[in-house]
Amino acid sequence: MRKKIVAGNWKMNMELAEGLKFASELDAYFKEKPAAAGVVLCTPFIHLAGAADILKGGNVALGAQNCASEPSGAYTGEVSPAMIRSAGAAYVIIGHSERRTYYHEDNAILHRKTWLAIENGLSVIFCCGEVQHEREAGTHFDVVRTQLEEGLFSLPEDAFRKVVIAYEPVWAIGTGLTATPEQAQEMHLHIRTLVAGRYGRECADDMTILYGGSCKPSNAREIFSKPDVDGGLIGGASLKKEDFTAIVESI
Ligand code: 13P
Repeated sequence: MRKKIVAGNWKMNMELAEGLKFASELDAYFKEKPAAAGVVLCTPFIHLAGAADILKGGNVALGAQNCASEPSGAYTGEVSPAMIRSAGAAYVIIGHSERRTYYHEDNAILHRKTWLAIENGLSVIFCCGEVQHEREAGTHFDVVRTQLEEGLFSLPEDAFRKVVIAYEPVWAIGTGLTATPEQAQEMHLHIRTLVAGRYGRECADDMTILYGGSCKPSNAREIFSKPDVDGGLIGGASLKKEDFTAIVESI
């Protein structure tokens, strides 16, 4: 059964008190008005333990935005999937384009992170998407196929079923440019077809595929209405309660 999800990616925003206050407000909101979609907040590491306490027993799940590629040991500054799990999170974003671009994370590293996260009981929101010149050159379907084949497709099926794919065209992230609903649908269908080729039709039909990139209350409903779009990964608009709740409610 395919699950609808709207996840907020706070990125590097909000100091501790501000983030916990915001988590409390969202917790109260979705307790009073349970959403039709699963709601996930992907916060900076510093918020995880406090937010987990706040969100416990409610309708909002918690995730991190990155994790280490090694299980433990002398890796100064890193945070392992086991640590994230122990803080109370259930999800981790892996392969966001900002990690790929600014921190040079390649598909091999992302595969290691994904595997380790799943082994440690986390669900993974795995991001893929092309940059502008790749779309202009018409190579976007190939780019996404390579990202999935190298980053995910060596997982066995039971592990792969812990993955949510987020298609985030890089040219649409934080730019105000959104993929058209038709562009999102054709890429999501491409992704689902690739998943069916690797894991079979039933697994592909169960797979949640999110769209991310300048998603706002004004465009979410139309994008989410496409048959292969199962929700969103929301950046800037997830930092404002009215916008984020409106996007969740447009599912
Ligand atoms: P924006 O919604 O700010 O474009 O960011 C999308 C994103 O990168 C979510 O991970």
